[in-house]
Amino acid sequence: MATMIAHPKPIKDPAALIASIIRYADAHYARENWLVARDFLSLAVEIDPGYPRLLGSLGSIQFQLQEYPAACTSFSAAVRRNPDDPDLHIQLAMVHSKLDHPGAAEAALNRALGLRPDDPTTLRLLADSKRDQGRYQEAGAIYGKLINRHPDQVGVFLSLAKCFFKLGDREGTQAALELVLTLDPNNEIARENLATLQATGSGPCTVTLQTRPTMPTSNVEHGLVAAANVARDWVTSPYYSDAEKWTWIFWDPISSFKRLFDKLPAGKLVDLACGHGRHSEKLLNLGRTVIALDIVPENITATQERLRGRPNFAAHRCNGVDFQPVADKSMDAIICYDAMVHFDCDVVHSYLRDAVRILRPGGMGLFHHSNYDGSPAAIHYGQNPHARNFMTARLFAHFAHKEGCSIIEQQIIPWGDVPALDCISLFQV
Ligand SMILES: C[S@@+](CC[C@H](N)C(=O)[O-])C[C@H]1O[C@@H](n2cnc3c(N)ncnc32)[C@H](O)[C@@H]1O
Repeated sequence: MATMIAHPKPIKDPAALIASIIRYADAHYARENWLVARDFLSLAVEIDPGYPRLLGSLGSIQFQLQEYPAACTSFSAAVRRNPDDPDLHIQLAMVHSKLDHPGAAEAALNRALGLRPDDPTTLRLLADSKRDQGRYQEAGAIYGKLINRHPDQVGVFLSLAKCFFKLGDREGTQAALELVLTLDPNNEIARENLATLQATGSGPCTVTLQTRPTMPTSNVEHGLVAAANVARDWVTSPYYSDAEKWTWIFWDPISSFKRLFDKLPAGKLVDLACGHGRHSEKLLNLGRTVIALDIVPENITATQERLRGRPNFAAHRCNGVDFQPVADKSMDAIICYDAMVHFDCDVVHSYLRDAVRILRPGGMGLFHHSNYDGSPAAIHYGQNPHARNFMTARLFAHFAHKEGCSIIEQQIIPWGDVPALDCISLFQV
């Protein structure tokens, strides 16, 4: 009798199979299980390597996990299949920079600029790449172009100062450094360099300009870099639709969030890092006046569309480190739910500092932040449980004390299946 061999069943409908694998990937991504989401996406790409969007998503997640060679393969394949998408070229360029392939990074940036001319992000990346390769003339020309359109970027002026200095243009260096100080009077690098420049008189430039253009130049700029690194992960995400199912976690009468929320003063409130506005909607329904803020412009648009026509509501894009454009002493309360858990601790501190500016005396904030100190900051936050950034309840209390706020209560809570992962801090100015 012939032996029966069990053959695997042929896949009848690969598109349906891929769709369900993507659903699994999305669900894990939304729950911040990024390693598992990455494995599901890899599987989908293996079954059908023809979708540029799938390859792009895989590349992004590999980039977030600092798996740069793999991300390079994914983005290169995505670009081959969809050469008209400038964002894919930019993403490929960023991977090439991480892999120290400056020529390939520049070629990709130039292709992106060919598709979307004058895009400021692409121009900045290109200028930085030229500067880092010592091509100061070309870099300086691009920084100049950027300054004409956005004359408020400290980092661009510092880089321009470095280019002038390297090209032996003492006057240009001085002018650029002075402009840095008008924008950021406490900028130590600009101060130190100006002092050195002045001390060396009017001869040829002999000092070594101490710009650290790829390094943070002040606390504010450090925060901006840290905020931008996190914000990149939240432009498009399956999180937003998935999260709607879990909004009750925050508003259920027995939830710790609701218990602490009920201690906030009534009146005007900021919903920081509003996402697609699910909490802003609840707040409006509770009769609050709401200003929603988020660093990602697409999220502000989504929130505005969701709440169009509602009175007592406004939404603004913020810079990722403070509450501008909210006016001084104008708010009664601030909430930040399910977002600060991902922020760098410098960004948490920066928001706490500015909370003191916007809250009226007696005003309160309720910040849901990470209580995870399991790995050093060098590890990408996406690799930590539920993508929590390095931050603790005690560190938050320390920052609050430094900013002159009182901690009213801190409740350490589990998240998912991880005990004591998060903290909700209620503070008062
Ligand atoms: C996980 S979502 C949470 C959104 C919303 N709070 C909710 O519960 O639905 C994280 C949000 O933080 C925003 N975000 C990330 N970094 C930010 C920063 N530094 N400042 C303000 N918003 C930021 C993202 O754009 C995103 O909307």
